[in-house]
Amino acid sequence: MTTRTKQPAPVTTTRIRRPEDVEELAGFDEHPGRGRFNSAFFWVMGGYINWHMHTRKSAAFADLPPTVVELGAGVGANMRYLPVDARLVAIEPNRHMHTRLRRAARSHGVDLQIRGVVGERIDLPDTSADAVISSLVLCSVSNPDAVLAEIRRVLRPGGRFSFAEHVAAERGTPTRWTQRIVRRPWAWIFEGCSCERDLAGVIQSAGFTSVDLSHYRIHSPFLPFNTHIAGTAIA
Ligand SMILES: C[S@@+](CC[C@H](N)C(=O)[O-])C[C@H]1O[C@@H](n2cnc3c(N)ncnc32)[C@H](O)[C@@H]1O
Repeated sequence: MTTRTKQPAPVTTTRIRRPEDVEELAGFDEHPGRGRFNSAFFWVMGGYINWHMHTRKSAAFADLPPTVVELGAGVGANMRYLPVDARLVAIEPNRHMHTRLRRAARSHGVDLQIRGVVGERIDLPDTSADAVISSLVLCSVSNPDAVLAEIRRVLRPGGRFSFAEHVAAERGTPTRWTQRIVRRPWAWIFEGCSCERDLAGVIQSAGFTSVDLSHYRIHSPFLPFNTHIAGTAIA
């Protein structure tokens, strides 16, 4: 495990409420138009997407501890799964998400701290987190292996990474062909999102003590988006 000489403040001590308190953005290819579009898209479509994913998310995100680190928190789709009076450390590099994320935190009574950094370089100390969660994020990060290594670094031994992600369909299926055909416009619109990633393989080879995940399919009109995994890995 990497030892870091400069350690930022522990997760539990700082409350960040004002925009000027957000950590500086680092390593995220920001586009003002698409950033705003994606913020509005996930705000408007969040309920519909969650309707498809709710059963699996409810299982994966059950019994979370009081302080949770969320990778790519977006506009707050997962706040409903946090315990009462939870603290959420949101790793969210797209600042166009931040206003809606704060609004969601207020309406769910969540104590929110936004860290505007990428998952490849999480500015939290080693072994400082009890739980990390993500949904629909590992499809968009530049380097999923590096992100998984960071998740393992910040989790305490025995800590959990719980996830609900969309993944590549089986080779040779119509869904897989569609994922291939639309890959360029899809990535352009959804800020780097790929529907062709074997994220189960990435998580299973990331060095967790145990991984429990299942594959499932949703039935939305967005065919390339319909193949999913959800589960929990233990550090
Ligand atoms: C498809 S949205 C999903 C948002 C939310 N998790 C949800 O389920 O609605 C992907 C999110 O990942 C964020 N993201 C993209 N690249 C990232 C990176 N390298 N590290 C952390 N978050 C990233 C985006 O800004 C965006 O908020």
